[in-house]
Amino acid sequence: MIRQDLEKIIGDNSARIGVVGLGYVGLPLIVEFAQKGFEGIGFEVDQKKIDDVNAGVSYIVDVKSEALKEAVDSGKLSATTNFDQLSECDVIIICVPTPLRKTKDPDMSFILAAGGEIVKRMRKGQLVILESTTYPGTTDEILQPMFEEAGFKVDEDFLLAFSPERVDPGNPQFQTHNIPKVVGGVTKDSTDVAAMLYGKIVDEVHPVSSARVAEACKLWENTFRAINIGMANEMARLCNTLGIDTWEVVKAAATKPFGFMPFYPGPGIGGHCIPLDPHYLSWKARQHGFDSQFISLAEQVNSGMPAYVVKLVSTALNDARKAVNGSKILILGVAYKKDIDDMRESPALSIIDLLRSRGAEITYHDPFVPEVTFDHAYTIGDGEALHNTDLTDDLITGADCVVICTEHSDIDYKKVCELAPLIIDTRNALNEDVRNGSKAKIVRL
Ligand SMILES: NC(=O)c1ccc[n+]([C@@H]2O[C@H](COP(=O)([O-])OP(=O)(O)OC[C@H]3O[C@@H](n4cnc5c(N)ncnc54)[C@H](O)[C@@H]3O)[C@@H](O)[C@H]2O)c1
Repeated sequence: MIRQDLEKIIGDNSARIGVVGLGYVGLPLIVEFAQKGFEGIGFEVDQKKIDDVNAGVSYIVDVKSEALKEAVDSGKLSATTNFDQLSECDVIIICVPTPLRKTKDPDMSFILAAGGEIVKRMRKGQLVILESTTYPGTTDEILQPMFEEAGFKVDEDFLLAFSPERVDPGNPQFQTHNIPKVVGGVTKDSTDVAAMLYGKIVDEVHPVSSARVAEACKLWENTFRAINIGMANEMARLCNTLGIDTWEVVKAAATKPFGFMPFYPGPGIGGHCIPLDPHYLSWKARQHGFDSQFISLAEQVNSGMPAYVVKLVSTALNDARKAVNGSKILILGVAYKKDIDDMRESPALSIIDLLRSRGAEITYHDPFVPEVTFDHAYTIGDGEALHNTDLTDDLITGADCVVICTEHSDIDYKKVCELAPLIIDTRNALNEDVRNGSKAKIVRL
């Protein structure tokens, strides 16, 4: 019965969609539903985000303010801190953070808080979907019992599914609608109805037999990335030792039309997903006595990259008869990846930290990031905040060393090569033409 009721209102786009957590995942998702004619209500704890959404101002790179404003003005989208409105929603999608504790164990507090808000206002007939990345078992071990203990029965009173989010912020080719969506419910009705819902906003839905499969699928994908990036980082260090150009090797290997997929080295891994998600999987496996060695090894290699970059800096400065202590070092790009403003887990933070702890004077230029703060747990340097500096000729010529941590497109690399004495390029940002015309000494990863 609940299945038919939900199918009817999803079918005619009259279902009200609540999204809990309007960040990188939640905001694009709710806008997509509103654009398809559904009424969306966003639930947030951050008042600033609520005000921005309701004013039609986007704070997420992939969501255009015009699209947001159009949805808000049409009455199809609103945001609130009033969780009582959850009872008005037919579908509730949870997109809250899933960080790690300092001990690198999963921090379930946000999912528990969101689940707690939902269960207090739960009514018969709702479909709840978890999108936050988490370990296999979260949906049926945490959320399902929470709802059942409040007296609701799955399939009779509510449906419950997990559907991983695969959004790649800043990727112009793949956005919500053209990234296939994996959906797994705790029951068959849950899977079917959740799959029908996503079919309204994405081109391809891939249903699986359980929420656990969907949860494991997401972690497999991101563990695959973490391990392959770890391998690329190790190969870069190996090539460096042998005096071989890493980037030329990867480029050549990538011409193989089968059996090889290029992954690139870098100064370390960042973002909210790749450095964290494998820990969710290994933590869960450990509960069952299984020790994942690949995950540990990748973590070890990837987390060692900032220190390796600092070693390259210090060796190159030494060759120029300079010490790190007292050198002026310009960091180009601090976001964790190209052309976005996301600083979460950015390896540039660790590199700056390590260099400052050795007495370097750091400035940075990043057109996307006006300020960098060092209030994270791992600060070993002086921890003072830094501010974006314009990339003037004087700034470049005045630096003893330039370290390219993020290869943003909008940086005049030719000018940097003309004016800097020494450049450490951790991202292959300097193409051959730029390098050939360079007066700088260039060290590449
Ligand atoms: N960012 C990505 O590229 C990406 C990709 C795939 C999956 N994910 C996963 O999606 C989830 C969300 O990630 P994100 O990047 O959108 O995080 P985010 O920090 O950008 O957004 C989460 C939002 O949830 C809000 N929030 C926290 N507690 C809340 C509560 N109790 N009620 C309502 N709102 C609350 C926060 O204020 C924040 O705005 C995480 O599990 C993450 O691993 C993220």
